[in-house]
Parts: sequence; structure tokens; C-alpha cells
Amino acid sequence: MTYQADRLANFGTSIFTEIAALADQHQALRLSSGYPNTSGPNSLIEATTVAMQKGHNQYVWSHGAGPLRDAIARHEQRFYQREVNPDTEITVTAGATEALFLSAMAFVNPGDEVIVLEPYFEYYVPNAEMAGGVPRYVPLRAPDWTFDPDELAAAFNNKTKLIMLNTPHNPTGRVFTKAQLQIIADLCQKWDVIAVVDEVYEHLVYGDAQHVRLRDLPEMADRTITISSMSKTFSMTGWRIGWILASEALSNAVRLVHQFTVDCASAPLQFGCAAALDLPDAYYADLANTYAQKRDLLLPTIQQIGLKPYIPDAGFFIMADFSDLGFSDDVAFCKHLIETVGVATIPPSAFFSSGNKSLAKQWIRFAFCKDDAVLTAACERLMQLS
Ligand SMILES: Cc1ncc(COP(=O)(O)O)c(C=O)c1O
Repeated sequence: MTYQADRLANFGTSIFTEIAALADQHQALRLSSGYPNTSGPNSLIEATTVAMQKGHNQYVWSHGAGPLRDAIARHEQRFYQREVNPDTEITVTAGATEALFLSAMAFVNPGDEVIVLEPYFEYYVPNAEMAGGVPRYVPLRAPDWTFDPDELAAAFNNKTKLIMLNTPHNPTGRVFTKAQLQIIADLCQKWDVIAVVDEVYEHLVYGDAQHVRLRDLPEMADRTITISSMSKTFSMTGWRIGWILASEALSNAVRLVHQFTVDCASAPLQFGCAAALDLPDAYYADLANTYAQKRDLLLPTIQQIGLKPYIPDAGFFIMADFSDLGFSDDVAFCKHLIETVGVATIPPSAFFSSGNKSLAKQWIRFAFCKDDAVLTAACERLMQLS
């Protein structure tokens, strides 16, 4: 007799858990996990402590504490020159993770199709499936990690309800161009589809690259759910505060699910986050510069040991092709790196559907969101492969 609900039948242990266990066993440096090994700014911790001391310890509005929604609206104005109504168009969630779940539960009926661009952040498909949705995969392919417009167009039909995408993109580190987003926008309009755009890396964009938002393209604001969070911009992945930006009608739907899922995200942390979003422009610029330097610290070693990296424009991951080293399987190569040199990475085939895993079989993903001491030590270990 199994008590587990049928809807969980396809869910297994995440690749991150498996790699973390092996990394522990071999005391490997973890360039696998997508979170920093240092905390974000002290001022956030102080602002949260003050909020607790002032008594902000009770439930707040389900859709978010007023000061945080106001701060998100100011952030919109400052970085995207957009007026957003904090009362009706912003919903504070328990991280982008909850926002993704709400987006699926609020809009997908059983049997609806959900287009997922792959490689995808590993929660998209379970979220779509929990809502009864049927994923339709459209791959991004190396070397540029982009989609084929005809293949994308062929995935849309009158059962399509949502498309889930991520820009700047994990794991490839590419940002979708305006022209690419326009192709997606045209298809969403043609087939009356809602776009869920995960933009958690919105502030980690390097050099001349530019983060363009689907919601800012003509006619897209009313059919786009934009998701972001504190995790990556403020190096506080454990705080679990994120948000959804959407029209009033779409916000109302996600709020219904949110209200009966978590009620509200952690109240005192919302006050700390409000202070964080108002940090000066210099904070955001330093963040991007620091990550660009970390990327550039790791890249030469990756090249020297014979891997061919895709140079990321954004995010904190580097995808690298290891086929010249005589390996042909990403999981086997990841295990080899952990066991022989003590560096943990992630096999990106985990971010593809079963039919398309071969597209990533010769790639691995390095995370460079670690302090320089860890990155330098990892480079020294990796050089043993040269
Ligand atoms: C693309 C992407 N979306 C969402 C998340 C989760 O964000 P949060 O910590 O806000 O739940 C991550 C975390 O790694 C991510 O890479």
C-alpha cells in the first residue's frame, strides 16, 4: 500500500542532493550549488533585526508588507522606468520558488500544455505537473544556447496555456535578445498564452550585455508574469523572499493560491528586504562587477585544462564543453572531477527532458558565486587535469 499521491510519481531526488552527498564524501569544493558561500550586506541583517525589535513579528498582508511592495515599485521605476501599482500588481512570495509554483497553480488546468525552454531551472516541470499541466519542451542548443524559432512555433497550439522561461538564464548565462523575446511575444499573442519569466539574475549582467524584459514589449504587460527575488541580488538565498509583478487580473489569480499556501512570506524579513532594494545604484554596479571578476578568475583555468566554455553574459554559472578530454557523459565526468581532483560541478543534462539530455551530455556547469579563496583553491585543484 502506498500512501503517496499519484501526482508525485515523476518526482525523484534532485541532482543537487546527489552531487552534494558525493562532494561531502570526497571533501570536494562545491562549485556545484547556486548560492554564495558568504552573506549579503550587513545592513539587511540590521534592518531585519530592527524590524523584529519594533514588533514586525505578526502576519502582514497576504500579498506582502506595504513597505516592501512600495520598495519593489521604486525598484521598477529606477531600473525599468515603469510605474507599477504596489497594491494591485505586486505580490510578495516565499522566494521565486513559490512564485513559480503559484504561476502554475493559478493558470494551468489539467491537460493544458506548458512550454518549457530547456535547459530549465529544475522546479518548472514539477510545478507544471503538480497543476496537471503537460510540459512541451523546446531546447536551447549549443554553441549559442538559443532556440530554433520554427521549433518554438511548432510547440504552440490551442492547448498551450503558459510558456516558462528564464532570462538571464541558468545554467547557460545567456540573456535573451529583444529579437528573440519578440518571437516569443508574437507567439504568446497569436495563441493567447501567458508568459512566466523568471528574472532572478536580473542584476547579474556583465559587459555590454543587456537584460531585456518580455513584459516591456508591446502588448505583453497584461500577459506576462515577471518573477524576481532577493536571493541572487542580495546573496540571501535562505531568506526566501521573492515577488511577482503582473497585471491586476493575473495578480488576483496568483494571490488566491498564495493566500491558501503560505498566507504571507516572513514579515520581519520583508522589512529588511525593503531596505535592501533601496540600496544606492553603486551597490548594484559593484555586485555585477564583483561577479564579472569571479567569472574571469575561473575562465582561464577552465580553458587551460582543455574545456571549451560558453562565456556567460550574466548569472553566476559557466557551462563548459569537456568533449576534448575523452569523456562523453556529463554525470560520469562530474563524478570523475569530484573523485579525482575534489571539485564538484553539476551535470546539466539534469536540466533537460529525457528526450533531449544528449544536448548537454558533453557539458558541465561551474558555479562561480563563491569567495575568491574557494575559487582560487578550485583552480589549483582543476590544474591537476592539465
Ligand atoms: C533560474 C532560477 N530561478 C529561481 C531560483 C530560485 O530562486 P529563489 O531562491 O528566490 O526561490 C533559482 C535558484 O537557483 C534559479 O536559478
